[in-house]
Amino acid sequence: MAGSIILYNRKLSKKRTDLIVEKVREKKDLVNLGEDFIIAHLVKFLEQNTAVLDYLVEAEIKDIKRSSKFKKIVKHIRGKARKIYGIFQTTAVSKRKEYLAKYIKTKKEKDLIRILKTHRSTKERILYNKELYEKIFSLTLKPRSIFDIGAGLNPLSFRYMGLEKDVRYIASEFNKKDVDFLNLFFRKTKMKNSNAVRIDLLVNEERERLKSYKTDICFLFKVLDSLEEFQENISYDVISLIRSKFIVVSFPLYSITGRRMRLQRRNWFEKLGKRLDFKIDFFKMKNELFYILRK
Ligand SMILES: C[S@@+](CC[C@H](N)C(=O)[O-])C[C@H]1O[C@@H](n2cnc3c(N)ncnc32)[C@H](O)[C@@H]1O
Repeated sequence: MAGSIILYNRKLSKKRTDLIVEKVREKKDLVNLGEDFIIAHLVKFLEQNTAVLDYLVEAEIKDIKRSSKFKKIVKHIRGKARKIYGIFQTTAVSKRKEYLAKYIKTKKEKDLIRILKTHRSTKERILYNKELYEKIFSLTLKPRSIFDIGAGLNPLSFRYMGLEKDVRYIASEFNKKDVDFLNLFFRKTKMKNSNAVRIDLLVNEERERLKSYKTDICFLFKVLDSLEEFQENISYDVISLIRSKFIVVSFPLYSITGRRMRLQRRNWFEKLGKRLDFKIDFFKMKNELFYILRK
């Protein structure tokens, strides 16, 4: 659980911070939310609401839980989390490990599909995964190494990629529990050269680590739109730091609510690619737009 927070010479004890972390995670779709994400947003909130900070430091714990201030903070952090993270998780998230154990036993596709369905993005691709990777690799090369950034559960689609198990598959995610789950998957499926690492793309020093992975191909599926909402032009930094021969970037064509998005081709992204001297191909597959960048 969290440590204490010191802000403006006020100390919010570990016990009080834990109250908030636990409450935020009470919702089914947020049980896997990283503690540092919650703390970072709590600190930001308290910096702008010092009266709430004073209250949290001074009030009786039993009163805090029932207070409107506490409810407001929890609501605020959940909102942030859902915007960037929670909305991608379907409710069966806590069942993942159980489903994985079953899949490892049976090796049946239907058991894998059950896991893919616990994340909105992989759920959407279930019907056309095989076709998708055939298409991508026909425009690139058959990779010996992959770097999947903001991977979610996409590495679990490996079965559809038509690649050898000794491929080096590096997945990065910012949510610690997803990273652990991906490592469990790699271990259980005996993908010995593969692993998952934790990288928060919004943190400068962490983003710099992208440079250290040199792979044949890099996937950046459905990540940039939401990052841009948090930090404008961050895509430029992210793409510049990638050291892969091919970068495959995707964007949703439909919003979470199923409405066709106004923006189909992403002109801003095409401009960015040109500015960085990439040759750009694109294609659409069902609900997703894919760009392939190469030098
Ligand atoms: C729409 S999902 C796409 C997942 C996966 N790439 C796919 O298409 O199947 C967006 C992913 O970006 C990750 N993400 C969001 N913010 C991030 C950040 N700051 N750093 C790294 N990953 C982040 C989320 O955890 C989530 O898994």
